[in-house]
Parts: sequence; C-alpha cells; structure tokens
Amino acid sequence: MKEKINKIREELEEFKITSGEKLEEYRIKFLGSKGKVKALFSDLKSIPAENKKEFGQLLNGLRQLAQDKLDSAKESMSGNNGKNDQLDLSRPGDQIPIGSRHPLSLVRSEIIEIFNRIGYTVSEGPEIEDDWHNFSALNFPPEHPARDMQDTFFIAKGDKVEEQISLRTHTSSVQVRVMENEKPPIRTISPGRVYRNEAISARAHCFFHQVEGLYIDKDVSFADLKQTLLYFAKEMFGENTQIRLRPSYFPFTEPSAEVDVSCTICNSEGCNVCKYTGWLEILGCGMVDPNVLESSGIDSKTYSGFAFGMGIERIAQLKYRVNDLRLYSENDIRFLKQFTPGM
Ligand code: PHE
Repeated sequence: MKEKINKIREELEEFKITSGEKLEEYRIKFLGSKGKVKALFSDLKSIPAENKKEFGQLLNGLRQLAQDKLDSAKESMSGNNGKNDQLDLSRPGDQIPIGSRHPLSLVRSEIIEIFNRIGYTVSEGPEIEDDWHNFSALNFPPEHPARDMQDTFFIAKGDKVEEQISLRTHTSSVQVRVMENEKPPIRTISPGRVYRNEAISARAHCFFHQVEGLYIDKDVSFADLKQTLLYFAKEMFGENTQIRLRPSYFPFTEPSAEVDVSCTICNSEGCNVCKYTGWLEILGCGMVDPNVLESSGIDSKTYSGFAFGMGIERIAQLKYRVNDLRLYSENDIRFLKQFTPGM
C-alpha cells in the first residue's frame, strides 16, 4: 500500500499541466470518481484495522497534494480562461479608443506656435482677478460699463471699486502683470479662459477663450502691429489672406482698431458667413495707451508698444466652420470626434 501511494505521488508530481486539456486529463486521472486517488481509498477497506489510521492520513495527504496542484494550475491558467494552450502572439490586439484634442485646444496651440516663431513667449495669469489688473491699470474709468454687474461676474463687490474681485473679462490682465514684472523689450502672448455675464446662445457664452498679445520696445509703431497681424492672418488662414483695419475704441489702446480678414470661405465673393461683405472680424488691437504703460511702471517716453486680442472660439469657428458656440462646451462626442487626426 505504501508503495502504491508513493508511486501515485511521484506520478502526479511529474504530470505536466500545460494546457486546459491536460488539466482536465489530470483531474480525471487522479481526482475523478474513477481516478487513482479514489481507487486507493477503496483499497483502504482491505487494510487491517490497526493500520487504517496511518494509511488514512497518508491518503488524505495525497489527495490534498493532488487537489493543490489542480488549484494552482487552474489559477495560473485563469488569465486565458484555461482554454488557450499559451499566449497567442498572433491574436489581433484590442483596439484602444483614442481621444482627440479639443478643437479649441488645437487652435490655441496653432496660434501659440505662429507667435512663437516670431519670438513671442507665453504668459499666464489668474482667472480670478482684482480690479487693478482687469480694469484700473488698463485705463478703464470707474464708471465704465464693463464694471457693471451686467457684463462682469463679481466675486467680491467691495464698497470701493479697488476692492472688487471678479472673474477676468479678458486676458489683458495678464499683460498688466507681465508689464509690472518684466522690463522691455516684452513680446508675449497670453492665452486663457475669460468670463462675461452674457446669456448663452449660439453666438455668445458666459465664458470663452482668448489669446492676447503684447509687444513693447523702443520705436514700436503701428506699422509693426499691422505687419505682425498680417503675418498671423496668412499663417492661420493661408498665404492669400488679406487684412483690413477699421478704427475702433478700447480704453487701453490709442489709436485702436478692429481687424478683419478676407473671407476664406467664399474668397471674399460674399457668403452668409461674411454676411456678403467679403470680410470677417477676428480681433481688436491698438497702440498701448501711454497711461497703461505708466500704470505698470514703464516709461512711456522711451517705450511704445502694441497689443491685440482675439477669441479662440472665433478663429476655430472660421477654421472649422462651427456655427454654434455652445458646441465647444457641450462635450458631445459626435462633435469632438470630428477633430480626431486622420478622420
Ligand atoms: N481686451 C480686448 C477684449 O477683450 C481685446 C484687445 C486686446 C483689444 C488688446 C485691443 C488690444 O475685447
């Protein structure tokens, strides 16, 4: 009997479970109802009573050993359900769904890259701003309508104008911070999210994104501004793009202008996007008002500069012909999917 037990022990130790079929074969061979271990238990009947205990223990040990081997083989196979012989290296991989960058992020990067090429750095600042950086340093008079609750989201509305804290209404606030902290020459763009208290519609939202630019040095002229914007328009919308400047007003620039690009959709022939004018408005700009330079500690007799600001949504709208601003923030996968590279 002892010999038999040892033989079966050796046999089951040597048995190599390399596949699901082998596993089943092993189970039937040793642990099945007609298996070798079971058979030994029936032999136990013929063992004299005084030896029963000893053999019983040996047999139980053998059965446990057989069971443990089965369990651990099962476990190591569970990775492939015990069905496959081995890892199938020729099996096609599972497709991992890849996301795409948001259209605003794509356009933002493109704008940054265009200005990087002519030496502009990127600067960022807080979205919650004090009155000084968002309004006062930019020459907004205390009674300016932008300081009205109707236009601006206030976080803390102090008794005095200087105490007010709001969500920034433009990234010009970042430019004030740069002027305060750096010495000219300054050449920087500030991309970021801005907030305005507008009813949400296809054409307006309570937040949007801007890129504003600032260039300050000795002898910077309006011609430099015009040339820089022409360069930008051609890089962004194509070599044949033209620009047109119309006089405008901003508290922080003098003179100020609004810039249109020739309609890239109809080649300036007239379409519903350019409202049959052949031109599309894309940004505001002007020469930095000397008051603004002085407020930030820059000598306006030595230095001059220009600034410009554009909405990223607007540029993306023209580039991708998105006609409803709300699409940018609804996160509808059907909209976002269209910006996957190669689609
Ligand atoms: N800050 C202006 C706006 O938000 C844009 C602008 C920037 C205009 C710089 C002129 C110069 O509308």
